[in-house]
Amino acid sequence: MDFFVHQQQKLMAENVPVSQIAADYGTPCYIYSRATIERHWRAFDDAVGDHPHLICYAVKANSNIGVLSVLAKLGSGFDIVSGGELARVLEAGGDPAKVVFSGVGKTEHEIAYALEQGIKCFNVESPSELKRINKVAGEVGKQAPISLRVNPDVDAKTHPYISTGLKANKFGIEREQAVDVYSQAAQMPHLKIVGMDCHIGSQLTEVGPFVDALDRLLELVDELAARGIEIEHLDVGGGLGVTYKDEQPPQPDAYVKAIVDRMQQRRHLPLIFEPGRAIMANAGILVSKVEFLKQGAEKNFALIDAAMNDLIRPALYSAWMDIVEVDRGLQRTSYTYDVVGPVCETGDFLGKDRQLAIDEGDLIAVRSAGAYGFTMASNYNSRCRPAEILVDGEQCHLVREREKLKDLWKGEHKVP
Ligand code: LLP
Repeated sequence: MDFFVHQQQKLMAENVPVSQIAADYGTPCYIYSRATIERHWRAFDDAVGDHPHLICYAVKANSNIGVLSVLAKLGSGFDIVSGGELARVLEAGGDPAKVVFSGVGKTEHEIAYALEQGIKCFNVESPSELKRINKVAGEVGKQAPISLRVNPDVDAKTHPYISTGLKANKFGIEREQAVDVYSQAAQMPHLKIVGMDCHIGSQLTEVGPFVDALDRLLELVDELAARGIEIEHLDVGGGLGVTYKDEQPPQPDAYVKAIVDRMQQRRHLPLIFEPGRAIMANAGILVSKVEFLKQGAEKNFALIDAAMNDLIRPALYSAWMDIVEVDRGLQRTSYTYDVVGPVCETGDFLGKDRQLAIDEGDLIAVRSAGAYGFTMASNYNSRCRPAEILVDGEQCHLVREREKLKDLWKGEHKVP
């Protein structure tokens, strides 16, 4: 459930008309709802009940520091994949002791930075990375807390680009090798084994693959215990899907309960969850203005002022995202449109064959755009990235200014 609903035909962001925000801040713009973010985060946290746990929001879904500050105030942990994401978390007031560091290519610099800040755990994805962390930890005189990301080899049944738990994927350490790699880690003087981790993919719509992955991890935990290696926490990753169209993913509480139930025999083993999309997707919309309506030979086009550089999911994954009129009270005739942007690519569309009652100058909103929206935006075609506004009840906070032309070449230099 989110707080973007039509009231008397007008789309509202919590208690503020979206058209008002567009008038105040311009278009295109991303709008986030604080109440929705908090509700979704709490849905996870509450569902775990008294099982020891930490919800580590996956920063890559939306890394705006306004958003991160809302989560930090709730006491959230954070799953990061770069030094940049760690810097954002710290800037937003996040607690480094609640940060887990995932990702296949951590640099020496990033490792040293994370060690200095005192993060909770490195989720290690290869034997080479293990050696590198051990080396850097020795150099900075610290003991690095580590967890191995085990590839459980389960089919997440999601888009191939966002499926990560199969043998064919670059992520994690093979299940068959895990015991061996843990034994190597146990020998390294500057490492401390604290956990086990997995992440099997994103936009999952069934609980089954999560539970299968957990079962495989638990077998390994036992095997390690038999060899004297104790695991202190289990990180089950992120990946819970959301409804963009007609998907029916389990609600966060059902998903969390399925996981916690599986831990019956291990009530003492703390759980870490890394949700990104399930917290942020439906907590944000992208608002855009219809510049032109154009009738092609075979199709009608709605040319809008947002484009693939602002929201790349439709172009990159053929993702279907709902597009709605912001004001439904206008007297408009409904036609079928391809909703496209001004970027010079045929792949520049936000939706195809959409029934919309719009005219030039009207506003539309792309729903469920709070996750993997702005974070994947670029300046392609030298377009300034949009403003981001976080709504809290009646209040609007500009959490990122619209980029200005000068920002486009910031750090670039002419040659004499
Ligand atoms: N943990 C790790 C290690 C991850 O790699 C990811 C996402 C997450 C947690 C959070 O997953 P979530 O709960 O958001 O599904 N850009 C794609 C999604 C890529 C996800 C990558 N990893 C999209 O727009 O669909």
